[in-house]
Amino acid sequence: MTEHFSVKLPEEVAHILKALNDNNHQAYIVGGCVRDIILNKDPKDWDISTSATTDEIKAIFNKTIDTGIKHGTVSVVIGNKVVEVTSFRTFNPDESKSLITDLSHRDLTINSMAYHPEEGLLDPFSGLEDIKNAVIRAVGNPSDRFMEDPLRMLRAVRFSATLGFDIDKSTLDAIKSCSQLIVNISRERIRDELTKILISNRPFKFILLRDVQLLKYILPEFDICFDITQNHPYHIYNVAEHSLKAVSEIENDIGLRWAILLHDTGKAVTKFTDKDGTDHFYGHPEKSVDIAKNVLERLKFDNKTIAKVCRLIRHHDKRIQPDFKSVRKAVNTIGEDFFMDLLKVQEADKKGQNPEFLNTSLTELNKIKEIYKEISNEKHCLSVKDLKINGRDLIALGFRQSKEIGCILEKLLNNVLEKPELNTYNDLIEMAKSLKNQQGESL
Ligand code: CTP
Repeated sequence: MTEHFSVKLPEEVAHILKALNDNNHQAYIVGGCVRDIILNKDPKDWDISTSATTDEIKAIFNKTIDTGIKHGTVSVVIGNKVVEVTSFRTFNPDESKSLITDLSHRDLTINSMAYHPEEGLLDPFSGLEDIKNAVIRAVGNPSDRFMEDPLRMLRAVRFSATLGFDIDKSTLDAIKSCSQLIVNISRERIRDELTKILISNRPFKFILLRDVQLLKYILPEFDICFDITQNHPYHIYNVAEHSLKAVSEIENDIGLRWAILLHDTGKAVTKFTDKDGTDHFYGHPEKSVDIAKNVLERLKFDNKTIAKVCRLIRHHDKRIQPDFKSVRKAVNTIGEDFFMDLLKVQEADKKGQNPEFLNTSLTELNKIKEIYKEISNEKHCLSVKDLKINGRDLIALGFRQSKEIGCILEKLLNNVLEKPELNTYNDLIEMAKSLKNQQGESL
């Protein structure tokens, strides 16, 4: 089936298609770029499928890179543009090499269209119609596609989240019956798909992973949170539903969304029901940090992201009073670099709780934000490095050991966090002297 369709291809892409055609090979742009064009999005990259073998591709173009010869892929370099050109793929020895065979083994109908400037859109699996109807559907027999590459099950959920499409029933059923195959997929690939779902505009679609039983294999720590009810006046959802509500309430930053997703996972191991039937989760933030660290390390996240997520989770429940002293102390404990992020986490957390208390919580958080703004503008001392004296001044006063110096600076900082006006050289020297005298007396 061809469809009247005209696309302005980048010069280099058009050049590669023409060069292949001039050498008597078929060549089409395929996959994600065709989908993106139909969706009026700028394609991230352009993929070409051709009847030429890798040797034939290499013979035609001056500059090529052997990106994946085993899979039939050669990158063609034209100027500063790199385009992946792949020989038509087959999956079984008895299949003939053709565009249709190649497309028939791709994951989803929306990703299985091809385009040629003269032939127009080639859409043997009705991807265009599925785009029009906002449906995610596997090509051909869904189970076969998922057995070829189980990551496709996650891709189906991911495209549902990024595009806002529903997954067709038979595709959903096939994911359910093939879900255990996901254990064969590398953790990095799983991480990337989960992250794309989380940072999409519809992170609540994450819940589909539970419905199709993928979650228990890839994120069991979160999966069990669906069974953790919270009988407490502040809560109206189970732990997982609460976390997913909160994820939708925070900006789509990778660290923030992962932090919110995992912030309450420790509740699964700390739940305690008192004699009145109310649930409590004492010490859950620390447990959540341990669980999150485990999850993120398993998914091979970089250390910087792990550190950020864990720090936000550790303090997510920290009660900050809306007054200058408490805010300064909280900034000192959490770190200036993460304080605003922590407030975002706390706000999203509240938005995932009982709405009855939301206004009060938001008013308080807004006050804290205002106070923090003022503290930042007025450059209040918030850490040891902001003190008007340093270690050398203390050595001059007769302090010797670095541990002792660190301890005195912390004490001085504590006083200054209480009363910022004490952050003057003279006041701090006087305070240090009196601390030294106290030490002398206590010896
Ligand atoms: N593809 C597939 N099965 C996969 C991955 C990819 O069939 N597991 C096919 C699809 O036709 C897809 C194309 O290869 O469109 C290119 O894959 P890729 O670049 O990974 O994905 P895109 O669909 O372009 O989307 P995104 O870049 O957002 O991942």
